[in-house]
Amino acid sequence: MAEMSDFLLSRRSIIVRNMVEPGPSNDDLEKILIAGMRVPDHGRLTPWRFKTIRGDARAKMGEVLAKAFQKANPDCIEEQIEIERERFLRAPVVIAVISVTNPEHKIPEWEQILSSGAACQNMLTSALAMGYAAQWITEWYAYNENVKNSLGLDNSDRIAGFLYLGTRTEDPKDRARPEFSDIVSEWHGPAL
Ligand SMILES: Cc1cc2nc3c(=O)[nH]c(=O)nc-3n(C[C@H](O)[C@H](O)[C@H](O)COP(=O)(O)O)c2cc1C
Repeated sequence: MAEMSDFLLSRRSIIVRNMVEPGPSNDDLEKILIAGMRVPDHGRLTPWRFKTIRGDARAKMGEVLAKAFQKANPDCIEEQIEIERERFLRAPVVIAVISVTNPEHKIPEWEQILSSGAACQNMLTSALAMGYAAQWITEWYAYNENVKNSLGLDNSDRIAGFLYLGTRTEDPKDRARPEFSDIVSEWHGPAL
């Protein structure tokens, strides 16, 4: 467990540019997905769904993105469309994390949404801890209605992120982190 806390103090995402084949084995992918289900979830509403996208489905998603991008940007050029076609080919495995909330429930919707963020972070951490490359990405297509429809989502569903998973080509340098004192303060009681 000491190892885990040390890991959390130095963990970094591995960006898709530094990611190659292979992706997680089936067993490891299942562990990553189960870690995503083992998150704080007020009221046990399971307000998240995970969809894996791999193999040929990645090129099919690319076609979906290309069409949606063209529709949203009628003046775009062929090079831009090609970038969209290849987005899901950047990693061997992608997990779409969908926030599925019930706004009528007594548990505030905000808390249901937060649980999806926890699911993303747990899966990211699980994959990184197993030594895989992993990055949490939204990009424009997480917010596009055509893309959401193609994934079979309801209009009210939200995409919390796409977790791109693969094998790292290099270890990342650390990036600047916030000053502890800018973020953390101690509360001593209400202002007089
Ligand atoms: C909800 C969410 C969406 C993100 N979307 C993107 C994105 O679209 N593109 C991107 O380059 N990074 C995105 N990031 C940032 C990366 O996941 C990550 O924070 C960054 O690569 C460095 O993270 P690290 O501190 O884990 O190394 C997103 C992060 C979050 C939490």
